[in-house]
Amino acid sequence: MINKKINDAFNQQINEEIFSSYLYLSMATYFDNQGMTGFSHWFRLQAQEEMFHAMKFYHHIVERGGRVLLKAIQKPEINWESTLSVFKASLKHEQHISSCINDLMDLSTKEKDYASRSLLQWFVDEQVEEEASFTEIIDKLNLAGKQGQMLYMIDRELSARQAGINPFDSSQPEAE
Ligand code: FEO
Repeated sequence: MINKKINDAFNQQINEEIFSSYLYLSMATYFDNQGMTGFSHWFRLQAQEEMFHAMKFYHHIVERGGRVLLKAIQKPEINWESTLSVFKASLKHEQHISSCINDLMDLSTKEKDYASRSLLQWFVDEQVEEEASFTEIIDKLNLAGKQGQMLYMIDRELSARQAGINPFDSSQPEAE
């Protein structure tokens, strides 16, 4: 059985992850509006991945006899100055999420909740990847500068991102 403190904290993290999904979907619309379909595709898949993260917490709470309570989702930003500023804002957001995961790990340790620690270890590793992938794209954008041709090439590259799993399909092993 999951204890109330952890249950409440995980419900808050579900909200953080769904907001992340909403934020990245908003970024996708920003790129759609500019006809940058590769960037838009990449952010739509990122939005899907964030919903998968939310559902990992959801399944964990349910499996341990807790109660998922959904909260209001904050309105995301809708405009940015440039492609680079979108990715810088994304990286900053991921750093915030990493900090949330670290706080949850601290709480799980304090509460001696080893099942939660196991789940959270997956997120600790995932956040390293998340921050690295945004940083890599920022580096490429910095190299591209204002060269339209290079920006076009990055757009093409991002259009190749493969779809992940359906976050709502609990029969898939990754959702367990
Ligand atoms: Fe769920 Fe991108 O952190």
